Amino acid sequence: MQWGLENRIRRMFPGTSGHTVMLAVDHGYFMGPTHRLENVGKTLEPLLPYADAIALTRGILRSSVPPATTVPVILRVSGGATILKEDLSHEALTASMDDAARLNASAVALSVFAGAPHEHESLVNLSKLVDEGEARGLPVLAITAVGKELEKRDARYLALACRVSAEIGAHLVKTYYCDGFSRVVDGCPVPLVVAGGPRLDSDAAALTLAHRAIEAGAVGIDMGRNIWQSETPVAMLKALRAIVHEKATVAEALDVLAAARAPR
Ligand code: 5RP
Repeated sequence: MQWGLENRIRRMFPGTSGHTVMLAVDHGYFMGPTHRLENVGKTLEPLLPYADAIALTRGILRSSVPPATTVPVILRVSGGATILKEDLSHEALTASMDDAARLNASAVALSVFAGAPHEHESLVNLSKLVDEGEARGLPVLAITAVGKELEKRDARYLALACRVSAEIGAHLVKTYYCDGFSRVVDGCPVPLVVAGGPRLDSDAAALTLAHRAIEAGAVGIDMGRNIWQSETPVAMLKALRAIVHEKATVAEALDVLAAARAPR
């Protein structure tokens, strides 16, 4: 792997665990000002010190993140659809590789819509990004989107979407947790991180999801709603870090959560 590309990837995997805790705040690009992300800068500020990378759009990066930040940036470069329409797969590339380089991104990310009406376009966009990324030493993270069709979160579908993304050249893949998740990981020849999906019933449920994903071989998490929609986002992020970086059990992570919540 060329030096610049590998260096950018390694910066998102700090420390010795070989794992990463990515914080996703890119939801506004198709959901608008979703709950707890109405003011991204305010939500992000206390969380930044505990994130190994942040995933967001260029608009939020420019408006809401101090340029002095040292946290690696994963720039979302696909978009063009909103939740107001049925077909979320109608996406194009919404930021150029030149802009990603100007913004000092450590990676670019796009959604891949396997099985959706615009599957073809999303896969061709991925191939273009990989070519342009390789030319500039910028890694590409493919996000296997399930859009409104949450029933697509099964191992057969997600394994296919992850594998196709890796075959086209994605350097990293993000997908959703499902039963039989190890099948998804095993079929994917590049590092895979897990998203959290919509807010679960409890913080314990989100910690369990992260723990199971890491046990199955995910190299980390790229989570949003189950962190910043938690009642105690910083404590939640610290507890997730214990699972991802320190091999904590769910019980141990719940102790971290409780300790981080305790008034000082
Ligand atoms: C939105 C995304 C999100 O970054 C991804 O889904 C992770 O966030 P969450 O944990 O809230 O699902 O790609 O399209």
